[in-house]
Amino acid sequence: MAGTQRCVSRSPLFDFTEEEVMMRNLVQDFCKQSLPWELVSKMDKESKLDPKLLDSLFEVGLMGIEIPEEFGGSGANFTSSIIAIEELAKVDPSISVIVDVQNTLVNNLVRNYGNKEQQEKYLTLLATKGLGSFCLSEASSGSDAFSLKTKAELQSDGSYVLNGTKCWITSSQEASFYIVMANTDFSKGYKGITAFLVDKTNPGVKIGKKEDKLGIRASSTCEVILEDCKVGPESILGGVGKGYKIAIEMLNEGRIGIAAQMIGLAQGVFDYTMPYLKSRKQFGTPIADFQMMEYHYSKLATEIEAGRLMVYNAARMKEAGQVFTKEAAMAKFYTSEVAGNVATKCIEMLGGVGFCRDFSAEKYYRDCIIGKIYEGTSNINLVTIAKHVKKQYD
Ligand code: CAA
Repeated sequence: MAGTQRCVSRSPLFDFTEEEVMMRNLVQDFCKQSLPWELVSKMDKESKLDPKLLDSLFEVGLMGIEIPEEFGGSGANFTSSIIAIEELAKVDPSISVIVDVQNTLVNNLVRNYGNKEQQEKYLTLLATKGLGSFCLSEASSGSDAFSLKTKAELQSDGSYVLNGTKCWITSSQEASFYIVMANTDFSKGYKGITAFLVDKTNPGVKIGKKEDKLGIRASSTCEVILEDCKVGPESILGGVGKGYKIAIEMLNEGRIGIAAQMIGLAQGVFDYTMPYLKSRKQFGTPIADFQMMEYHYSKLATEIEAGRLMVYNAARMKEAGQVFTKEAAMAKFYTSEVAGNVATKCIEMLGGVGFCRDFSAEKYYRDCIIGKIYEGTSNINLVTIAKHVKKQYD
């Protein structure tokens, strides 16, 4: 009965607060000044993050977006982080993921689950000069993350000794500390998983093999090896046995970040392609005016629009305190499909220019593949969506 339905007033998803608009402008200006194609291409070829660029990211406040001002952060909201991740990905998806992991996983883990001392120590560091890494995956536990084998053994003095090897850890080469998921009691299954804050200076931690990757090459991905790594009880984040829950809850948020990265990437390659299609003539006509081209780029523009709405919707749901797990999984799944489709089609429309390394299109194409893999593969996200859909019909 329509007349008795509660009317919920919602503003359009493209309505942004003044603070959010300022964030978009700030990141666009930052990209123009500090992230030219020459640097993006150099970092990609050398598979190395420019340390000066990292310093600038801290200086402009992009590494502690939601961290409260009292700790040196920008004190902004989640959508501001999403906007920053999206804008950076338009120019360089590698830099975008560095900012993404810092803000949506590491900072928020410490902000949401850290005690006063942990917040003072780590939030100040994260906002001003230090990267953190989120260490969950292992060689034998990727999608099946909770079957991790890294163990944390309680000692008689209350400390823990960590042993194990974490794999594919983002930003681990540059990180100042690691949030390590380890099991304190395997008899409890995943309910033994506990998060530990481990400083890089700890003699029991070392960086192993650095991966030579297909894409997002400026962002380091390495093994983190824990060998008789002794940490005090004060390094437990969120409580013993709470690690699995805080890890997946952060990943639910993180998935919106990756979705923002994918939609920024799609927009970036599209923005690169369209002016070329309008300027290149064949048979005396700009190729953008051929109906076959119109068919393709109209569909791509529609997919980008749909994906972006899903990203902003999931972000706003999170901010409103609503359950957003399904929407985050949907946004990540869909936007990684969109990014793959847009990057592929743009290369086809660009022709030779799209296929050569001197131009950015092929880099977007390599960078987009990871969107279907990290922070939950597409299959895992589809499983999560299926669980929620089935529940709706119980
Ligand atoms: N949100 C909240 N809780 C969830 C959840 C979700 N999306 N999925 C599972 N859980 C909880 C369940 O409620 C349950 O908790 P309780 O016992 O307290 O009720 C517990 O987790 C186990 O549930 P399941 O038995 O259903 O889960 P599972 O063991 O089959 O798989 C999972 C769970 C490991 C979380 C899996 O669904 C998953 O997401 N795998 C992918 C892991 C991942 O995203 N890794 C990313 C690595 S980090 C990274 O990529 C960062 C980077 O570098 C960019």
